[in-house]
This record gives sequence, structure tokens and C-alpha cells, in this order.
Amino acid sequence: MKALVLSGGAGTRLRPLSHSTPKQLVPVAGRPVLFHALAELRSLGVREVGVIISEGTHGQQIRMAVGDGSQFGLEVTYLPQDAPRGLAHCVIIAREFLADDDFVMYLGDNIFAGGLAEPLQAFRADQPAAQLVVTKVGDPSAYGVVEVASDGHVTGLQEKPKEPRSDLAVTGAYFFTPAIHEAVRAIEPSARGELEITDAIQWLVTGGQDVRARQFAGYWADTGTLESVLTCNRVLLDDLTGDVRGSVDEASELSGPVVVEEGARVVRSRITGPVIIGAGTVVEDSRVGRFTSIGNGCRLHDAGVEDSILLDQASVHGVGTLHGSIIGKAGDVRRREDGSATHRLLVGDDSRIDVPA
Ligand code: TTP
Repeated sequence: MKALVLSGGAGTRLRPLSHSTPKQLVPVAGRPVLFHALAELRSLGVREVGVIISEGTHGQQIRMAVGDGSQFGLEVTYLPQDAPRGLAHCVIIAREFLADDDFVMYLGDNIFAGGLAEPLQAFRADQPAAQLVVTKVGDPSAYGVVEVASDGHVTGLQEKPKEPRSDLAVTGAYFFTPAIHEAVRAIEPSARGELEITDAIQWLVTGGQDVRARQFAGYWADTGTLESVLTCNRVLLDDLTGDVRGSVDEASELSGPVVVEEGARVVRSRITGPVIIGAGTVVEDSRVGRFTSIGNGCRLHDAGVEDSILLDQASVHGVGTLHGSIIGKAGDVRRREDGSATHRLLVGDDSRIDVPA
């Protein structure tokens, strides 16, 4: 079994982070989302992975971060896509790489806590033409929606329907046999101009092929929005095991699971886990609260942060009330030194700031 990991796309909903960083490289629980996906694929026994990347600098960043895949025990082949033309388009451009093998198609911004071993086992046992991984959602109209008979057979699909016929949404993992190749070539672009994978799967269903769905029991997240990145960070940190490799001075207090990476220093501070403090980061005279992931080379001084993500080289000085925040690479939040009580903001494109009432 091969894997096709989709790491192109526009990532418009994850601005401003996605202006400079492909959304698949945004860290959750201390590692890029895509790294969680690649580790999961390896644990399923996959070795050969095709990674769809966009042609610009985002694609280059993914190549740099993942390399040849050996750090994950994988062999990675990059498949550039000229523009985000839809999930089914990704299957078309991966035709040669996939050859006539079965494969799992995995959206590179998705997290499946608990893993995909169960649906993979079902796919192997039942041998359908395609098998979807589905989950119940509160607002099906935002998703690909699947109608499933009581025996697990898929009877119909709708893409982001105004009137959903079920509350089961397609997640970002699909198990396919080579039957999908004819389907992706048979469909036309949708109203939004994309080749939709739901249309290709519907084509299989209409043609009488065996398409099934497995309901995912664990936590699933599409980390396409800032809110979902924070939620996902929380869920993954809940399973954190503490590990202190950096230094913690005697005046500091650690409680709950805390990871302090190599070269990080915690000085006169209180850390309440689950918390990850990245390599080379310095935390001084600060409080770091539950569900916080701090990247590498960050600096916190006289700061208070909880339920937040700081990307590499970010810093917080003299601000004690950060909660539910994401600070981008080298972002700097600091108290004014001139005594003024006004906010002074230098905010990048598409950013968002919430201030107290
Ligand atoms: P989406 O989140 O559906 O699309 P997007 O990345 O364009 O995001 P937004 O709606 O915020 O603009 O994509 C799901 C995953 O598939 C994601 O990892 C990007 C990837 N993808 C491709 O690789 N190629 C594509 O043509 C599309 C549409 C998505």
C-alpha cells in the first residue's frame, strides 16, 4: 500500500500564518501537522509516499522540512501541483507514482488521534473499490457529506450541501484501489472550479462499485483554521509525557507533564503542563500555563501565557495575560516602555487581535 499526502492548497482560512508558512508545517503539540501525518502513515506500515506540493515557496519549504522522508522511515516522492485544482486533480497527477497499487489518500493538514489502523484493517478485509473514513459532525453543510446504509455501504455523497442528507462527514483519509483512476478522469470541475473527490467517489457509487464507510472513533481535526489548530494542540498535548532535557533552575516550579527541549532554559518561572518548551528557548520570570506549545529559539520574560502556540523565535516581554493565542514566527509581543496606556500595534496582513472590553 502506498500513500498520497496532499500538502498543496491555498490555506486561505489559516491566514496570516499561511502567508509565510504552508499550513501543513504549522506546529501542533510541538511538531508540524504534516509530521504527525507522516509518522501515522509509517505506523500503518506504509513506506512509499507521494507528497503533493504547490509549485512556489510553500512547496519548497515542505521539501526542506521533510527531505527524502528517511527521518520518518519513509521514501518520499514530491509531486508538484501548478494550482489548487481539487483533491481529485491530485490523484490525476499522482497516476504514475501510484501505478496500480492500492493507496491511502491523506490530507496533510488532518490529524487522526488514535490512528487509522482500524479502518485500514477493514479495507483489507472487505476489499471494496474505495473506503471512506467518516465522522458525525454538528454542521454537515461545511463538509463532504456521506449517506451510508446500515451495512456500511455508501449510497450517495454531497459536497458542502445546503440541505445535508446525513450528519456523517468525510474526513481527510480515503482508502482507494486503482478503480479511482477512471473515476477522477470521468468527472468535470465543480461550481467552485475544482475536481472534487466526492464527485469521483459518487461516480463509483453510481457505476455500482462497492464503496464503504468506516466511522472514526477517535478525535479527528482538520487544522485548516486558527481555532482548530488551537483545539488540536490541546487534544494532542493531553497525552504528553514530560521530558526535561534543557535546564530548569531551583527557583522554578514544574507541575504536570512538561517537555523542556535541549538547550532550553527555565529560570524563576512556573510551568503548569501539559506544556512544550522548544529547543534553545529561554523562559524567565514567567508563568506558562496548560496547553501551551512554545517553539524553538523563543524568549519569554516577565510573561504569562496559556492555551497558546508560539512559533519559532517568537517573544513575549512584560505581558502577563496571553490566552488562546497564536504568535507567528519571530512575532514579538511586549509591554510599552514609555508608560502610555494605549495599544500600539504593528499587525501583518489578515491578522486578528482581540483586546479586553
Ligand atoms: P483544503 O483545506 O480543502 O483547501 P485549501 O488548502 O485550499 O484551504 P483553504 O480552503 O483554507 O484555502 O485542502 C485540504 C488539504 O488538501 C490541504 O492539506 C491542502 C491539500 N490540497 C492540495 O494539495 N491540492 C488541492 O488542489 C487542494 C484543493 C487541497
